[in-house]
Amino acid sequence: LLHQTTYLVDGELKQWKGDTAEIYSTISSTEKYKPTLLGTIPQLGGDEAMEALDSAVKAYGNGQGLWPTMKVEDRIACMEKFVEQMKTKRDEVVKLLMWEIGKNLPDSQKEFDRTIEYIYDTIEAYKDIDRDSARFQKHSGVHAHIRRGPLGVVLCLGPYNYPLNETFCLLIPALMMGNTTIFKPAKLGVLLISPLLEAFQNSFPKGVVNIVYGRGRVLATPIMESGKVDVLALIGNSKSANALQSQHPKGNRLRMVLGLEAKNPAIVLPDADLDLAVEECITGTLSFNGQRCTALKVLYVHESIVEEFNRRFAYKVDQLTFGNPWEDGAKLTPLPEVDKPGYIQELIDDAAEKGAKILNTKGGQTTDNFIFPAVLFPVNKDMRLFKEEQFGPVIPVVPFSDIEEPINDMAESDYGQQVSLFGKNVNTLSPLIDTLVNLVCRVNLNSSCQRGPDVYPFTGRKDSAVATLSVHDALRSFSIRTFVASKDN
Ligand code: G3H
Repeated sequence: LLHQTTYLVDGELKQWKGDTAEIYSTISSTEKYKPTLLGTIPQLGGDEAMEALDSAVKAYGNGQGLWPTMKVEDRIACMEKFVEQMKTKRDEVVKLLMWEIGKNLPDSQKEFDRTIEYIYDTIEAYKDIDRDSARFQKHSGVHAHIRRGPLGVVLCLGPYNYPLNETFCLLIPALMMGNTTIFKPAKLGVLLISPLLEAFQNSFPKGVVNIVYGRGRVLATPIMESGKVDVLALIGNSKSANALQSQHPKGNRLRMVLGLEAKNPAIVLPDADLDLAVEECITGTLSFNGQRCTALKVLYVHESIVEEFNRRFAYKVDQLTFGNPWEDGAKLTPLPEVDKPGYIQELIDDAAEKGAKILNTKGGQTTDNFIFPAVLFPVNKDMRLFKEEQFGPVIPVVPFSDIEEPINDMAESDYGQQVSLFGKNVNTLSPLIDTLVNLVCRVNLNSSCQRGPDVYPFTGRKDSAVATLSVHDALRSFSIRTFVASKDN
């Protein structure tokens, strides 16, 4: 059991003696299902939230604080010290990733290692940005020394599905550019931040990183209402983002870096390599049980091949093995949200009532903490599954006869992150790519949707994102261009 009794504010690990919350895992430690108690975390109140905010505001010091004015090499040294200390915590964090959110061992290790790599890449990219900022230009007799500077105080809120990696994709670039931060870990995947508290404390000047635990409404609301947050950085849902933005007195002008919902489609054309399309659609729909914003969430398959696609796809889904995260070959794992199996079942029932069938034999079979992925066909616009971001193991297959059908659906959708396109004929693919790239931000050719490699831009249109993440772009998203101008005299 891990009892987290401290939180990090103003460079101090403060002892908390008030209310705590119990953190449970949906992975059962006994054969008869019973959630496992993993530990406790502090439930801080509004006063502690204000303490964290004041600490970040003071450390920023209107841009005059130690951190925003620190020399490039010194700021890099702090980041390097942090990543070196973080690396020593791999085993603890990976174990907690498995227990807290049910991510399987290889993916948990990947999440940790990818985060380490992300930090190193960010340091390298920051050196480039600095070189870029040292550039002098002259135009129409005006000399410009272009720089890139911090924005201020950043409130960082990450999601449960990548509680380490995605939170750090916000936090690390925000810090690297000289901002100060308040970070509240996600509701699930919160204990895994505990092993890193001391590394944060040891590596950064006081007040630069503040870590608080508790309910969003109690902590984030007063922080936003204070009007002292310069950037809201959140990966999660648009409902939370909208609420937080509206709490800020100048919310309509608040800077935001947001990664939100998506309903990424796959489009399988008549000439697609079916084995490849099936394989990629399995990974795309069911990695981490479909709990990824980048997951494929609807499969459009041309009517001429849909029967064969369905047969191969449904068969492959049924071959996937379910197990606890540390078990060899466990592709499907327990779902960390207790209400998720019920929600997925609702989507299945709704689609079934309106005429869709479950194609795979195991589809929809449930245990207390799991529902086996169900492949539903034919899915249409009247079904909830067509529109809602399922964020879990249920896969709608939509047949189409004319490519305009998926294109029109994408144009009408509230989201615009990515698409996967499967086909071979360059003459067909090429104009289609030009169309799709203006509806989403990433077109994956004969491959599933994903965020990585992290050096590539990660963003979305419409309700899917605000600003761009990834190594290089995130540094830009958390900074502002400034310059010094002088004239020829
Ligand atoms: O939940 C959304 C994540 O950004 C997914 O990242 O594509 O690397 O799994 P991924």
